[in-house]
Amino acid sequence: MSEITRDVVVIGAGAAGLTAANRLKRAGLSVAVLEARDRVGGRVWTDTIEGAMLEIGGQWVSPDQDALIETIAELGLETFDRYREGDNVYIGPDGVAHRYTGEMFPVSAETEQIIAEVTARLDEMVAEIDPDRPWAHPKAVDWDTISWDAWLREQTDDEEAILNLAFPTGSAMLTKPTHSFSLLQSLLMAASAGSYTHLVDADFILDKRVVGGLQQVPLLLAERLGDDVFLGQPVRTLEYSEGGGVVAFADGVTVRARHAVLALAPVLYNRISFVPPLPRLQHQMHQHISMGFVIKVHAVYETPFWRDKGLSGTAFSPYELSHEAYDNTNHGDERGTLVGFVSDRTADDLFRLSAEERKERILESLSHYYGPEAKNPVVYYESDWGSEEWTRGAYAASFDLGGLHRYGADLRTPVGPIHFACSDIAGAGYQHVDGAIRMGRLAAQQILDEIHDEIRP
Ligand code: FDA
Repeated sequence: MSEITRDVVVIGAGAAGLTAANRLKRAGLSVAVLEARDRVGGRVWTDTIEGAMLEIGGQWVSPDQDALIETIAELGLETFDRYREGDNVYIGPDGVAHRYTGEMFPVSAETEQIIAEVTARLDEMVAEIDPDRPWAHPKAVDWDTISWDAWLREQTDDEEAILNLAFPTGSAMLTKPTHSFSLLQSLLMAASAGSYTHLVDADFILDKRVVGGLQQVPLLLAERLGDDVFLGQPVRTLEYSEGGGVVAFADGVTVRARHAVLALAPVLYNRISFVPPLPRLQHQMHQHISMGFVIKVHAVYETPFWRDKGLSGTAFSPYELSHEAYDNTNHGDERGTLVGFVSDRTADDLFRLSAEERKERILESLSHYYGPEAKNPVVYYESDWGSEEWTRGAYAASFDLGGLHRYGADLRTPVGPIHFACSDIAGAGYQHVDGAIRMGRLAAQQILDEIHDEIRP
């Protein structure tokens, strides 16, 4: 067991922790980053499975994600557009694959009208929300004590409209059943992307990818820190005192520091023994935050066969097992890759089946969008973050019904020398790598401000 002393100990080498560590080091402070896993990147993980490069975790970059875009540029990485030529596919209650182009998918004129009206209403509400302070909205209590599902059902009884309005923040983003989180949580998700319209626009929200994989971002950030990153070092105990700094005890190293940045998903805070225990407010608040759950499915084919049929690869249906799927072919790759998503309760149900049955059911669903060829990929892989000890779900964490207005304002408030940083506590960029970077920057700034205040005469 080695023991070292630094100005700041950062716990977690995801995008948030590595950003904070880089900022602090650049400002002249000494840092140590303790990471539980044997790799950096956390929920950003690019790996090669049976010869295919796959983005196991986060991958897409959207045009409003300034913090991520700046980081990508600063690291000298290149991006490429998601393939989107040709027709998209929507499957409605009739179970038939309907091809369409443009923004609106094919539903009846009445349903289209309702979707347009409610979308306009949502955009107006979202425009009033500051994503960094949704709890400050005058109607925050009302909006946080009604479920997303219940609010939508107050707007219309058109079931197809409800399902299609519900899923962009439900299955597709928070990856929880729509009765389990609030309207306010849904509005925050939309506000973090600029508007509800942005969130439903795949060409906006799933715009670009990084050539060679998004994990290069954390890998290059870690490279700049050199020996200051310690892998395979889960922090088990964190001692702290108001004026006396912190001591982080990991499996093979102990770090004494003046400040700590806790850069992990909030659902994992309770894996660490805090001495003394965290204050009552944090104990309560952290119990009201939980992970969503989605299976990200990768299917690689000899060729992107759907393109020959004039399909863009963009496909969705609230009635399908895989509620959305896209062309996810790598830059310059001759083979074609589809990525599909199976969310919340449907994902729970699938994990009760055998692996073979699960694969068959998922590929069957993809074949409804793309035709029978989809059933025979050369590489098939399911990203299952629910079974990862150091993540426990996907994509990220959110409050239960009523939790956001009750606790949100305290999410990022430091506890003595302990600062918090994670995409799951972000406003802008919430639940995305962009938000992780923003929170890493914020925690670093909080520490630098404190030090500045200490030395100011
Ligand atoms: P993150 O969880 O990445 O990092 C925390 C780190 O702390 C981990 O490395 C963990 O091992 C470590 N840790 C935990 N406990 C510890 C302990 N006790 N001691 C030491 N270390 C500890 N985003 C996006 O922008 N575009 C996208 O397309 C997607 N898509 C997507 C798909 C899938 C399948 C997932 C799972 C996620 C996404 N996301 C995404 C979300 C995005 O990946 C995520 O928001 C950020 O990567 C989170 O970064 P953080 O650094 O906040 O946490």
